[in-house]
Amino acid sequence: MVFIQKNFSLLNYNTFGINVNALEFFEYSELENLNELFKNNVFDSIFFVLGGGSNILFKDNFNGLIIHPQNKGIEIIEETSKNVLLKIAAGEEWDNVVEYAVNKGFYGIENLSFIPGNAGAAPIQNIGAYGVEIKEIIKYVDYFNIENGKIEQLSNSNCKFGYRDSIFKNELKNKIIVTNIYIHLSKIENYHIDYGNIKDELKNTKIINLKAVREAVINIRRNKLPDPAIIGNAGSFFKNPIVSKQLLKEIQSDFEDVPSFYVDLCSVKIPAGWLIEKCGFKGLKIGNAGVHDKQALVLVNYGKANANEIIELANEIISKIQNKFGIKLEPEVNII
Ligand code: EPU
Repeated sequence: MVFIQKNFSLLNYNTFGINVNALEFFEYSELENLNELFKNNVFDSIFFVLGGGSNILFKDNFNGLIIHPQNKGIEIIEETSKNVLLKIAAGEEWDNVVEYAVNKGFYGIENLSFIPGNAGAAPIQNIGAYGVEIKEIIKYVDYFNIENGKIEQLSNSNCKFGYRDSIFKNELKNKIIVTNIYIHLSKIENYHIDYGNIKDELKNTKIINLKAVREAVINIRRNKLPDPAIIGNAGSFFKNPIVSKQLLKEIQSDFEDVPSFYVDLCSVKIPAGWLIEKCGFKGLKIGNAGVHDKQALVLVNYGKANANEIIELANEIISKIQNKFGIKLEPEVNII
C-alpha cells in the first residue's frame, strides 16, 4: 500500500525556503512503490518529481502529487585496476556520493563537491562546476517510464547532454523518474585544478590529493555561495548566456574587462554574474528578495519572500540586461 500525504508543507523541501503546500506528497524508498502508483493510474494526474529541492522555485501551492525519491545505495558494479563503475540510487544525496568517491580514492567528481541536491537530479540539468560536468562521468541513467511502467536505460550519448541541459528536461520531461545513475571513475591519480579559483585556493597546499581538492572546492563554495540553511537560495538563478563573438566585440568596446569563455568558433559564454553585477544589482535587497553580495548569479530569500518577489526581481534583472547588453538571460532554476 502506498501512503500519500495530503496538504503537505514543502517549506523544508525547497532550498529557496518558499512556504507552499503540495496537494499530495509521496516519498518512497523502494522502486516497487512506483509500480503501485502506476497500477493505480496515479501518473494520469499532475505530478512532479522533487529531489533535493535545490534547483526549484515554487510559484504557488502545487496542485498535484509531489513524488520524492528516497531510494538509497552506492554500489561498485565493475572494477578494474584502472577504473570503477558505480551504481547510485537516485535518492542518495549527491555530496555523499562525492565524499564516498574521495574516501575510496576514485577520481572524477571531486570538483563537484558540495553541490546540493540528489544524485537523481544530477543528469537532468547536467550539473557542473570548476571545469567538470557530470556528462563526462555518467555512463547510463536508469529511469521508470510512467507511460509503460517499466524501468528503462539510456546510455550517455542518448542523454543529449548540453550545458545545464539533457533529454530529461526536453523530450522526456514529465515522462520518467530517474531511478539510478551509473558513473565511471578513475583509480589513476588525475586532477582538474586549472580552473582559476581552484588553482588559487590550492596555492599553499603542499600535497595535492583528492581530499585537498575536495576541501578547496568546499571552501570556495562556502565563501561565495550562501548556505541555504541560513539564507534561502537555489544556487545560480540564471544560466550563463552563450552569445556570438560579434556581440562580445560590441560589449568589449564599452567594457574591456568583460570575461568570456570559449564555446565554439562563433560563440562564447559570458558569466551572467558579471552582467548582473555591471547592472548594479549585486548585493541589492528589495523587500525579502535580493541578489547575493558575493555572487550576483544567486538570488536569495532573506526570510519570508514569496516566489513573486523573487520572480519580480528576476524579471527586472532580465529586462535591464536585455536593454544594456542585448542579451536575454534564461533562468537555470526550475520555476514551477
Ligand atoms: N562574476 C562577476 N560577478 C559575480 C559573479 C561572477 O563578475 O558576482 C564573473 C567573474 O568574472 C568570474 C566569472 O563570473 O570570474 C565566473 O564566476 P564563477 O566561477 O563563480 O562561476 P559562474 O559562471 O558564475 C558557474 C556555475 C556554478 C558553478 C560555478 C563554478 C552556471 C549557471 N553556474 O557559475 O554553478 O558553481 O560556475 O564552476 O553555470 C549552480 O549551477 O547552481 C552553480 C552554483
